[in-house]
Amino acid sequence: MTTSADTRERSLAALVHETLERNWREGERRGVHYAYTEPSPGRYPWQWYWDSCFAAIAWRRFDPLRSRAELETLLAAAEPDGFIGHTIFWRRPVTLRRYLFYNVTSRDALMTRTVQPPALAFAWSLAVGDPREDPRVVRHHEWFTRERDLDGDGLLWVLQPDETGMDASPQFDPVWGRRAQGAPLFPLLVWRNRRLGFDIRAVRDAGGPILCSVLTNVLHGLSRLALGRPSITPALVARLWDERAGLFRNEAWPVSPAAPVTWAALCPLALPDLPEAIGRRLVEEHLLDRERFWLPVPPPSVAADEPSFSLRDRQFGLRRYWRGPTWINSAWLLWMGLVRLGYDEQAAELAARVSAAVLREGLREYYDPYTGAGMGVKDFAWSALALELLDESTGGSEQPRR
Ligand code: GLC
Repeated sequence: MTTSADTRERSLAALVHETLERNWREGERRGVHYAYTEPSPGRYPWQWYWDSCFAAIAWRRFDPLRSRAELETLLAAAEPDGFIGHTIFWRRPVTLRRYLFYNVTSRDALMTRTVQPPALAFAWSLAVGDPREDPRVVRHHEWFTRERDLDGDGLLWVLQPDETGMDASPQFDPVWGRRAQGAPLFPLLVWRNRRLGFDIRAVRDAGGPILCSVLTNVLHGLSRLALGRPSITPALVARLWDERAGLFRNEAWPVSPAAPVTWAALCPLALPDLPEAIGRRLVEEHLLDRERFWLPVPPPSVAADEPSFSLRDRQFGLRRYWRGPTWINSAWLLWMGLVRLGYDEQAAELAARVSAAVLREGLREYYDPYTGAGMGVKDFAWSALALELLDESTGGSEQPRR
């Protein structure tokens, strides 16, 4: 490593460590000890499921005990059947205003009745150890298969856009229309699904829509591999790969309308067993396209030539996430594919551009893909993943820790 790269890595590590420390929270709720990283103080005071998985991965470089504590806190919220919600309200109950659009069945609920992408076993394997040795982790992932693999082909379905972690992404607009997240009628979707107990089979029986999401299944696939279970990559390719377009598409039910291309169409690049020819098409025909994904700070959350691509993150006073800016977890997942497939120069370029933006702007929620300007909240924990891009040992070829 050159001296300047070394200095960059050290400065970024210091910034990341400082931010994680600042966001760390410990306490007790009804006799249960909790310890986790707030996604961002103020706006996000609770424990968010996939944020915690990413934070645990980042903590392993500074304090592995915190990685374990973070994931143990998710497990402490688990119900006996393995269910863990999308947001866990350890510190205080959900506010009345948020109750309107949060997926809870009552205001004093410990957590939402919806989920986020099942990344726990994957995070555990990177940051803690062998997830097969902990029956609670196994039970949690079995919940997903039992409750969300609706067709028995190994792929999971979601009942609302926010279950994918990409709340207002335009990939969901044609499916949920005016009831999509970030659209004015989203609370109606939440109220309807609340009435159905946020039970996906009940939502399907009521006519849907429900969605087989590429990103959800990629994290599910990574967790399955970490658990030593058969890979779902062949099922993902069979169902969601669009051979003509050379990218992956969600499938919706009962109808699956055409949808804008977002970074999620490329995220199977993170799967270590993705067929190489598919990976190369994702990289060469899409990711490296300077007009669409290979912007100065890639990858934008939506291909820049899509009419829905936008850097405005508010409309009519509503926050609209994932409609253009670059998020660091996405950069990491796509970078894994570049490393694995031997696109060394491009992987290094991505790492340099992302880390320069994060170093200059601090850990922000997302970044302007043209200028690198920080956007959204400050001190956003999962942007700590920028550090992963400077460490090639965490590229897609890494074996989970044993
Ligand atoms: C936003 C993001 C979601 C994240 C949450 C907390 O809702 O879209 O992915 O988990 O904020 O950071």
